[in-house]
Amino acid sequence: MASQLRLRSALALVTGAGSGIGRAVSARLAREGATVAACDVDGTAAQETVRLLDGSRSEEGAPGGNHAAFQADVSEARATRRLLEKVQASFSRPPSVVVSCAGITRDEFLLHMSEDDWDQVIDVNLKGIFLVTQAAAQALVSSGCHGSIINISSIVGKVGNIGQINYAASKAGVIGLTQTAARELGRHGIRCNSVLPGFIATPMTEKMPQKVKDKVIGMIPMGHWGNPEDVADVVAFLASEDSGYITGASVEVTGGLFM
Ligand SMILES: NC(=O)c1ccc[n+]([C@@H]2O[C@H](COP(=O)([O-])OP(=O)(O)OC[C@H]3O[C@@H](n4cnc5c(N)ncnc54)[C@H](O)[C@@H]3O)[C@@H](O)[C@H]2O)c1
Repeated sequence: MASQLRLRSALALVTGAGSGIGRAVSARLAREGATVAACDVDGTAAQETVRLLDGSRSEEGAPGGNHAAFQADVSEARATRRLLEKVQASFSRPPSVVVSCAGITRDEFLLHMSEDDWDQVIDVNLKGIFLVTQAAAQALVSSGCHGSIINISSIVGKVGNIGQINYAASKAGVIGLTQTAARELGRHGIRCNSVLPGFIATPMTEKMPQKVKDKVIGMIPMGHWGNPEDVADVVAFLASEDSGYITGASVEVTGGLFM
């Protein structure tokens, strides 16, 4: 997609920014002129993302601010509050674009799923998005700023998936959470949308057995897996004023899978 500068004055907080979709989103938003606060539980990975953004800026002469890396575990309320405080203190304003990409899988069949695997996935994928959305919304509302919050769910949240009862529940929860936030925050000029990727080639899906990967391709009308950049393109649109009258939407990025 052609480079545009739709996010010239935006400060974007991206969680899960150290890998896969979060890293691609960070790169895309930066290319559109946003300053990126890249957060990950893996602080070194977040720093590496910022290094890549800074490198591509000097190579391409792209504008943009002083991107910064932050380490935080989004499943912990105190850490998430501190993250928003630190971002606000670093840039003297709250982030106007917030993209929650942090997520994990702990796959197992329902008959064998442990309580711990259930709790971990719900804590990061659902509670983490609640905590980030709440802290970001509180910061925006109290400073009277408008914003766009984008939460990464999954097509699995809509249709379920064998071996992912915890993950599917967390991602379905993200859709409901985002729609509710959209209803509550519209009057404050804050839009909230979720993105539902299908199968995207990232470190998360790398560990899937090759047999399953091959089977998945046969189910995708477009005949191939998605790239993190396919998701980032949609996130950039939802972050920008080009989607100014869209809120509460769940946008599928699946190559037609399960349509
Ligand atoms: N890859 C896919 O096919 C796919 C499909 C649908 C949805 N998704 C969702 O997209 C998002 C990104 O996935 P990905 O494929 O890029 O995975 P990934 O594993 O490449 O990246 C996830 C990132 O989240 C970080 N993270 C994990 N727990 C965290 C925590 N508690 N606090 C902060 N950061 C944390 C990890 O360190 C990692 O950098 C996830 O929410 C995932 O569920 C991915």
